[in-house]
Amino acid sequence: MDLDDTAARLGVSVEDVERVHRLAGDLPSAPLPAKDDAPAILDRLAVRSDDAAEIMAGWPDPDSPLWTPELRWLLDRSIALVRADLGGHGWLSPGPELPRGRGPAWRHLYVYAYLALVDVVLAYHRDHGIADAVSWATLADLGRNLAIDRRMDREGWPVMQSWLTLHSRGGLYELGRLQHHRGDTAISLHIPESGPLAPDAITASLDEARAFFPRHFPDEHYTAFSCGSWLLDPQLLEYLPADSNIARFQRRFELEAYEEPEGLDADVEVLRFVFRSLTTPLDQLPRRTVLERAAVDHLKAGRHWRWRRGSFPI
Ligand SMILES: CC(C)(COP(=O)(O)OP(=O)(O)OC[C@H]1O[C@@H](n2cnc3c(N)ncnc32)[C@H](O)[C@@H]1OP(=O)(O)O)[C@@H](O)C(=O)NCCC(=O)NCCS
Repeated sequence: MDLDDTAARLGVSVEDVERVHRLAGDLPSAPLPAKDDAPAILDRLAVRSDDAAEIMAGWPDPDSPLWTPELRWLLDRSIALVRADLGGHGWLSPGPELPRGRGPAWRHLYVYAYLALVDVVLAYHRDHGIADAVSWATLADLGRNLAIDRRMDREGWPVMQSWLTLHSRGGLYELGRLQHHRGDTAISLHIPESGPLAPDAITASLDEARAFFPRHFPDEHYTAFSCGSWLLDPQLLEYLPADSNIARFQRRFELEAYEEPEGLDADVEVLRFVFRSLTTPLDQLPRRTVLERAAVDHLKAGRHWRWRRGSFPI
């Protein structure tokens, strides 16, 4: 295979293609579900009908003209690359960021990889005695992310394509209100967009995790819950009431000393999570809630948001 040629045809860098080639090698891939079964699976994965229609329209049938040999290669090797790290919990890119506007195969290539890995990760969950309901609640983050990406005019996907490999590798579990991400000694918490951050729901989710991990991952020993987020920036308290859910969430954590995170701009993350737009000029962003006004006014004052990390004992 000519990697230069493949990269050119995919519209990505040679380094990106070399990385996939190196990591996936000849490792086993996994088949996609039967096309007839796909609508029901997409439904279980909370994929909305508009996204599901696009995914079905671009389905990688063996004779589909939408699927060039390069796209087929990338899909097959991307599945192998993620599958090879089954059980892993590090950040993992499944492959290069594609020019998604070229069509449904390009747009949803990593969604097809995710679908191929559903059976693989379900088997992993079963080996760990994890209940079906937890598996599907966890994997249904696909539908949530696709819907958010659509709201974001597709600006969200570059991060999502890596984020969703955590679910496919058994690295993350949605237990009630929070997603719990396996790690070395801490369970890292993620907050999906699924309604308010009600303190009772947080407490219930933490309690669930306290029982879940010793039971399903008895070889892993966790001493803390941790979180890295724009939500932990104490500057938010200059704007939000002390009894707001975000302020109450912050009070659970002991913050680490601030360190500039590598490759992550907290101003961009606030725009992502508050406005679901990365490119709208500040003057055109909505000012409906306290937080929306705070997010914009802070930046307009020439100040910056910070990505903070914190933890508390299990
Ligand atoms: C985290 C989240 C659930 C908190 O929402 P919440 O429980 O309503 O938070 P609070 O009670 O502290 O809200 C305080 C104020 O901020 C507003 N607010 C909170 N989150 C908001 C958001 N994402 N966008 C716009 N306004 C928001 C609330 O409406 C409220 O303002 P109001 O009194 O004028 O109505 C919400 O921000 C969210 O869904 N975020 C997306 C996911 C996310 O950021 N995850 C973390 C990734 S690192």
